[in-house]
Amino acid sequence: MPNFVTDKFIKPLLPFSDGEYNFLWEVFSENSSYVMVENTSARFFIAIKQKKDGLHVIKAEKISRPSQVLFLQQALEIYAKKAQCNMLFSNISPSKPKRENFVIKNLDFFAENFFTNKKEIYLEVGFGSGRHLLYQAKNNPDKIIVGIEIHKPSLEQVAKQCEILELKNVILVDYDSRILMEFFQSNSVKRIFVHFPVPWDKKPHRRVISSYFTKEALRILQIDGMLEVRTDSELYFDYTVKTFMSEDSVDVKILKNFDLEISSKYEDRWKRLGKNIYDIVLTNHKITEKIDKIAKLEFTFYSNVDKIIKNFTPKLFLGDGFFVHFETLHVKSNEIAVIKTAFGANERAERLFIIIDGKGARYFPNSVYAFSANKAAHEIIEKWLNE
Ligand SMILES: C[S@@+](CC[C@H](N)C(=O)[O-])C[C@H]1O[C@@H](n2cnc3c(N)ncnc32)[C@H](O)[C@@H]1O
Repeated sequence: MPNFVTDKFIKPLLPFSDGEYNFLWEVFSENSSYVMVENTSARFFIAIKQKKDGLHVIKAEKISRPSQVLFLQQALEIYAKKAQCNMLFSNISPSKPKRENFVIKNLDFFAENFFTNKKEIYLEVGFGSGRHLLYQAKNNPDKIIVGIEIHKPSLEQVAKQCEILELKNVILVDYDSRILMEFFQSNSVKRIFVHFPVPWDKKPHRRVISSYFTKEALRILQIDGMLEVRTDSELYFDYTVKTFMSEDSVDVKILKNFDLEISSKYEDRWKRLGKNIYDIVLTNHKITEKIDKIAKLEFTFYSNVDKIIKNFTPKLFLGDGFFVHFETLHVKSNEIAVIKTAFGANERAERLFIIIDGKGARYFPNSVYAFSANKAAHEIIEKWLNE
């Protein structure tokens, strides 16, 4: 992350503007502060920390960082000049703007455009190096292939491949599949592939397959749609069969050492080691009620900055499958309060700020979708801010 260290620092008066950048206001805690910066494409914080030796570290703030690192570098450069800094260390020299890859989509895309999608959908969870996903995309140009992967380098690699191969039917998203499934309309997906998921033998709660995931998969699968799990782990195989069989009126098929049209890197390795490969295929036969489009969570009260400043202490609330952690408070007199929070599902927390000012409260830098765990967490946040 771009940052610099300076032994000279003359705090600039806010607001000020330079070119495309506006430096708007600053909020403070005991030994650090955040400056709100905006340009025509983004709003983000730069963070300032005074160290014990009198030096200042001025850096990009992680949670609010924009997709273009160049914005941060340019904002820090302008700020350094304005604050007459004498840089002892710096890594802020501007880099080339990052080219957007249009195969990778964010949650807003799913919420806005995807819900009403009419084409048949294949969904691959944890596609890794993407061999199977690319194979499905090439061979099914009439289908939409959605790939969900939490490992960013794999996601970016496969996105690049899609561009090179000019595949127009792929959508990739960096999110936890166990939560993202809540975005899909009921009975809308033809096939869900979960190939060689991490077995997590010692931490079964981290597994992709669970009773909740199975129920959600059955909800989003079309009639005769299939959830196809492929694994080399006998423990995961047993666990998946047990989990699927605990659902009512299900159709579960098991295959052993059955070759697919395409083999992944993992699969090649396990085959070389002489391991057995198991497929567990769950077919849906039920129509499920349609769900409403997932909304964004909004604060419904008019909050009082004074009260928040008086009552704030770092706090952790633990709920059933979710949590809320109020971490730090930064303020600008009694006008603006900025709370750093982490909240939501245990397996995929949102890390955001809550900004409270004369206009009310809002999440920053992005809004929050009302997944079930987020909704439960948001209720606690609202109640706590109101108390
Ligand atoms: C063992 S690799 C298998 C990759 C690929 N399916 C294959 O067969 O080669 C498991 C992949 O699942 C991804 N993964 C793990 N948990 C996930 C989750 N909750 N949502 C999406 N992807 C996940 C990991 O990042 C990893 O790339």
